[in-house]
Amino acid sequence: MNAASFILKGDLCDSLDRERLRTVPDGYLVCLDGLCAGAFSVLPEEYHALPVIDCSGKLILPGLTDLHVHAPQYAFRGLGMDQELMEWLAANVFPEEARYADLAYARRAYRDFTQALTRSATTRACVFATVHRPATELLMDLLEESGLVAFVGKVNMDRDCPDDLRETTDGSVAETRRWLEETAGKYKRVRPILTPRFIPSCTDPLLDELGAMAAMTGLSVQSHLSENRGEVECVRRLRPDTAFYGDAYDRHGLFGSHGRAIMAHCVLSSDEEIARIRERGVYVAHCPQSNTNLASGVAPVRRYWDEGLNLGLGSDVAGGSSLSILRAMADAVQVSKLRWRLQDDSLRPLTVPEAFWMGTAGGGSFFGRVGLFRPGYEFDAVVLDDSRLTAPRPLTVAQRLERAVYLSEDRDVVRKFVQGREVSLPS
Ligand code: GUN
Ligand code: FE
Repeated sequence: MNAASFILKGDLCDSLDRERLRTVPDGYLVCLDGLCAGAFSVLPEEYHALPVIDCSGKLILPGLTDLHVHAPQYAFRGLGMDQELMEWLAANVFPEEARYADLAYARRAYRDFTQALTRSATTRACVFATVHRPATELLMDLLEESGLVAFVGKVNMDRDCPDDLRETTDGSVAETRRWLEETAGKYKRVRPILTPRFIPSCTDPLLDELGAMAAMTGLSVQSHLSENRGEVECVRRLRPDTAFYGDAYDRHGLFGSHGRAIMAHCVLSSDEEIARIRERGVYVAHCPQSNTNLASGVAPVRRYWDEGLNLGLGSDVAGGSSLSILRAMADAVQVSKLRWRLQDDSLRPLTVPEAFWMGTAGGGSFFGRVGLFRPGYEFDAVVLDDSRLTAPRPLTVAQRLERAVYLSEDRDVVRKFVQGREVSLPS
């Protein structure tokens, strides 16, 4: 369906600001040529002629953004969760990712991933593929077809991984260039993003080349930062020339100085690193479920929040076992409570409206004017049928939203719109 002009009628909920929800019970959400024209409790005269899609009694939320997810890891979600990061990568991630040299395997696995993402409440995602160029292009084709909006990265790694996954430095650079050439201008909704896996996987010459590409093209960058103790120690050993982990990206121009950068995790970031993240406008992708599964710890998100860092939520499948960003909101609140109680009572727990903001407006801002029902924002909306979550008395829209965060499932998503186009939901 082409981007059209229409009205969604239902119980609207987005963020009023970073701390508060805005709800419009039985409201009208107006889409004009793919852009939001506003959320109204009384429909303005000028829109009376537009067709109405009646979703009365259902929750209508901004589409959710997954700022950090690994498409090839969807295949083994929920497996191998009894290890920490570095052991888990060697035992589970690298052997699975090596399979994506086989395009037939990649097609099966990426079809599953794309269907699951399409079925969820997520409308936008920043996605890691693998080192394999053909499979990465296949993933981009599938995501484009789905109607979702995504940044997709061909992963770069030229050290410290099994032979069947490791690229040569020159090979990694050449394949990245070819990938960018082959996909240039090919898609409407899918864009490439430079994706050095993390510092332990990338030599200095490779990072130099990727930094030069970022400088020349203005492409954004996604990677991992200060996730887990073993990893941070490894980076300290590998890069004694750097002041802190993030400095290793920054020295190569991969930390928001050219295109923008998303760094997943930032659980163990030092004061200096946090200051650099702020200075460079780097996005922090908070991935609470992954950080729990891999025993990485709990990121000091309240501090990042108070310091005004760019913040969004990531599923980090398969570090996280669930693709759901609603689930990530609940996890973010829950782990912040444990951190507050057990680790540092100076950092107040997050609230549901704050976590909701992170999963909508916070992450959405990486894509532009996305994640709010404000005039001029891209029209991304999810219709949730929360009637399964019964109650013996009427609940407010805000209460229903809170319950949806904790309890809703993909099957409750009944319609989904991205840039004003309806996405067809797999059954
Ligand atoms: N660091 C480097 N690679 C990965 C990965 O695949 N998952 C997670 N969670 N951290 C990483
Ligand atoms: Fe990750």
